[in-house]
Amino acid sequence: MHWIVCPDQKSQAQACAAIIAAQVLQKPTSVLGFATGSSPLRTYAELIELKKRGVVSFSQVRTFNLDEYVGLPCDHPQSYCKFMWDNLFAGMDMGKDQARLPNGMAADLEAECCDYERAIEDAGGIDLQLLGIGHDGHIAFNEPGTEFSRFTHIETLNELTIEANQRFFAKREDVPKHALSMGVGSIMRARRILMTAYGKDKAKIIREAFLGPVTPQLSASILQFHSDCTIVLDRDAASALA
Ligand code: F6R
Repeated sequence: MHWIVCPDQKSQAQACAAIIAAQVLQKPTSVLGFATGSSPLRTYAELIELKKRGVVSFSQVRTFNLDEYVGLPCDHPQSYCKFMWDNLFAGMDMGKDQARLPNGMAADLEAECCDYERAIEDAGGIDLQLLGIGHDGHIAFNEPGTEFSRFTHIETLNELTIEANQRFFAKREDVPKHALSMGVGSIMRARRILMTAYGKDKAKIIREAFLGPVTPQLSASILQFHSDCTIVLDRDAASALA
C-alpha cells in the first residue's frame, strides 16, 4: 500500500484529484470508479478546477459508481445519481451516456446487479476506483460480515449506516433500508484503488482497517491485499497510525 499523508483537507483533495487526472492523462479512455459521501467532495471540486484550467478532460472516460439507494430516482435530492451530477459530472466535459450508477429503481433488482457487473466488464474493467471508508470500516455498502467474493448485490443497510445517512433526510424513516452496491469482489477487480479519508473521527478505523487483521467484519481491510492501493489521508485521519 502507498500512503500519502497531507497537512490539511485541501492538499488531501488536491492529491486525490492529481492522481485521478494523471490516470486520465495517461489513458484518456480510462474507466473510473467513483464514490459519494463527504470524503470525495473536495476532490471533485478540485477535478472541476483542473478541467476549467484545461489540465484534464473527461470527454472519453467512462464512469461507474459504487452504489445507489433502492427506490430513489435520479432526480431525488438524496440519490447518489443526483449527488454525482451536482458535484462532479455536470462540471466536467462529459455526457449522460458516459456515467453509470446502479439503478435502484429497476423493476428486477437482481437482474440490474448482473447487468451492472456485465457493463463494467464490457467497458474493460475499472482502471481506478476511488473509495471512502465508513466508520464501521465499510467500503461501498459492504457492511460488516460481508463476503469478500461478492459482486454487485442488494445490501440491507445496518443501523449505524442508516444513522450516519440520516443527516441528509428529513426523518429517519425516509432513509432507504436497501441499496445496490458493488461487492468487495467487484472493488478488488479494479486495477488501481485510491482510498481517501479525512478527520479525527476516521483515525481509529483507518488504523484498524489497514494495520489490523484482514477480516470480513471490516470490509476495507481486504485492501491490504490489493496490488495497487494508495491511501490519501489528512493529518487528522492519519493521527492514530504512529
Ligand atoms: C459512498 C460509499 C460509502 C462511503 C462511506 C464514507 O458511495 O460507498 O462507502 O464512502 O460511507 O462516507 P463519508 O465519506 O460520507 O464519510
